[in-house]
Amino acid sequence: MLSEQLSSTAKPATLPTFWVRDLPVYGDVILAPMDGFSDWPFRSLCRSLGSAMSYTEFVRAQHIVQAYEHMALRLTYEEAERPMVFQLYGDDPDELLEAALRVQDKNPNIIDINMGCPARKVIYTGAGVGLMRSPLKIARIFRKLSNALEIPITGKIRLGWGGCKNYKLIAQIIEENGGQAIAVHGRTKEQAYGGQADWDAIAEVKTSVKIPVIGNGDVKVPADIDRLKAHTGCEAVMIGRAAVGNPWIFSRLERDSVSPEAVRQLLHQHLERHLAFYGAYKGMVLFRKHAMQYLKLQRFSRRVRTEIITQNDPEIFLKLVDEAYAGLGQAD
Ligand SMILES: Cc1cc2nc3c(=O)[nH]c(=O)nc-3n(C[C@H](O)[C@H](O)[C@H](O)COP(=O)(O)O)c2cc1C
Repeated sequence: MLSEQLSSTAKPATLPTFWVRDLPVYGDVILAPMDGFSDWPFRSLCRSLGSAMSYTEFVRAQHIVQAYEHMALRLTYEEAERPMVFQLYGDDPDELLEAALRVQDKNPNIIDINMGCPARKVIYTGAGVGLMRSPLKIARIFRKLSNALEIPITGKIRLGWGGCKNYKLIAQIIEENGGQAIAVHGRTKEQAYGGQADWDAIAEVKTSVKIPVIGNGDVKVPADIDRLKAHTGCEAVMIGRAAVGNPWIFSRLERDSVSPEAVRQLLHQHLERHLAFYGAYKGMVLFRKHAMQYLKLQRFSRRVRTEIITQNDPEIFLKLVDEAYAGLGQAD
């Protein structure tokens, strides 16, 4: 059933939905970059189910320059994921350039600069949303990278920091300095991930630049995709948290309409990829946060969920999953 779903959704539309410079993108829904989530196992499944392109988790430019081999896992992808976006963060234009030049050996389609992360350890270095306080630095970063690299450079921003909601200015600076697309998370640094995303502000960015704009924030169900597009005129929509435990959102399926058997099969497949990618122990531990979301959205008792999630042995874990889902079938 999974393979049927995958093959039916993986076909590209005839015409590109939009272009990032000369790179065609087929589709208007994209998995958001998420540290700790948008790794190869999850990204590749989302891409198969309809996410139009793949963004890595953010990677610190300094780590690439100083300890490249440790970053290799975060930049691992499969061909079917293309267009493949490597997201970098940092605050030093020269270091970002050096990192971008280095990762070219892994052949990404796009380099994206993170200007939205509100985490203290990131903004104290001047990176993430910290960059939005230094428009001139953003100009230098985009000018340098777009002059030196053959692939397109894009950016992901927030609305601003403090009273300074300079999203329109930053979007224009990105475009004027060679940036080829902008993703906008419609929240300020202070909002972090709470409160309501401001779709009017995303619409303002859209009318301020000619390059494609990807809207992000508060997309929770399939209907929100078209609502955000209609509200803002954005070329595409990015989905983060609502995709965890629910990658079917990229096929515009309501979570309730996905059969328990399809969920069980995908959970198996996701775990298999995790174990292959991270190794048995780490793979199982890191899978728990995904498993919690898959199972939470099912009608299992807390006892059953806890029993499954605290299991360290992958074989027993999958056996318990199968038993739980078989029980659901009987209840139906
Ligand atoms: C756990 C987590 C990790 C994130 N990591 C990144 C990241 O590495 N790069 C980035 O640009 N945004 C990151 N984000 C922000 C998301 O890409 C997205 O902008 C945000 O979650 C809002 O979208 P949503 O409401 O659909 O979740 C992260 C968000 C979460 C919740």
